[in-house]
Amino acid sequence: MQILHTISETRAFVRQARARGQVIGLVPTMGYLHEGHLELMRRAKDQCDIVIASIFVNPTQFGPNEDFGRYPRELERDAEMAGSVGVTAIFNPPVEEMYPPGYCTYVDVERITEKLCGVSRPGHFRGVATVVTKLFNIVQPDYAFFGQKDAQQALVIKRMTRDLNLDLEVVIVPTVREHDGLAMSSRNLYLEPDQRRAALVLSRGLERAKQALKEGERNAAEIRQLVINMIQDEPLAAIDYVELYAYPDLEPLERIDGLTLLALAVTIGRTRLIDNAILEV
Ligand code: PAJ
Repeated sequence: MQILHTISETRAFVRQARARGQVIGLVPTMGYLHEGHLELMRRAKDQCDIVIASIFVNPTQFGPNEDFGRYPRELERDAEMAGSVGVTAIFNPPVEEMYPPGYCTYVDVERITEKLCGVSRPGHFRGVATVVTKLFNIVQPDYAFFGQKDAQQALVIKRMTRDLNLDLEVVIVPTVREHDGLAMSSRNLYLEPDQRRAALVLSRGLERAKQALKEGERNAAEIRQLVINMIQDEPLAAIDYVELYAYPDLEPLERIDGLTLLALAVTIGRTRLIDNAILEV
């Protein structure tokens, strides 16, 4: 497996693969890999001849008081893990390679970014859309793989790909969970043991909503309240949002009668965790 640090060597690498007629898959990540990332890479490997995983902690998607500085960076560990699932090359640029002095161009996806994490993290999706556009342009993949764990992000990338006529297919992979239900995340590393236990309120909240739906509840406000009550019972948890929207257009809804995104953001200590489920009647 190769580790590429510059845009020009990455372009050269991809050019050779394309000249051989190979199908190229891209898996964008910020590193500190876990089983969720590895699942995206396996899916990419199944579908593509070569897989490039990017590992780049993207400064433009972090707010000023967020964890950019302390986000875990462990390239050697990540390279070993990526290699074990058949990743062909890692693209790991320094910040100046992606954002040289004078950089001033951004990609803004409207509407679907104006709710959920877009409200709590102003500028976040602008940073995500910008870096992903750059990665798409650098690698020019046939397929790019994203996780359902970040449901709104996946929708933003799909929308952007369509709106800007980007010539690739975006593949969304289901959320990978720990055995007890906690969605895998690089940020789980921040959790102390008691916080790790408290973090289960997210997946339990989703299960509670699914159960209510199974029992016949269709009122979105009622289901939302059940989930809120459950999370509020956990003293270490503070709700950022609990919302239900029609999926995938994220329009508000009163009754659940089609695909519905239930999205949660909860802070445990200093760690902000998100999770979601697509409810289906
Ligand atoms: P990161 O949080 O490292 O996640 C990289 C990819 O892995 C994303 O597509 C994310 O949805 C997916 N992922 C994370 N946890 C997952 C899980 N438990 N199950 C399935 N997939 C999971 O998301 C980002 O990085 C960045 O915003 C990025 C897209 C790389 C742009 O900087």
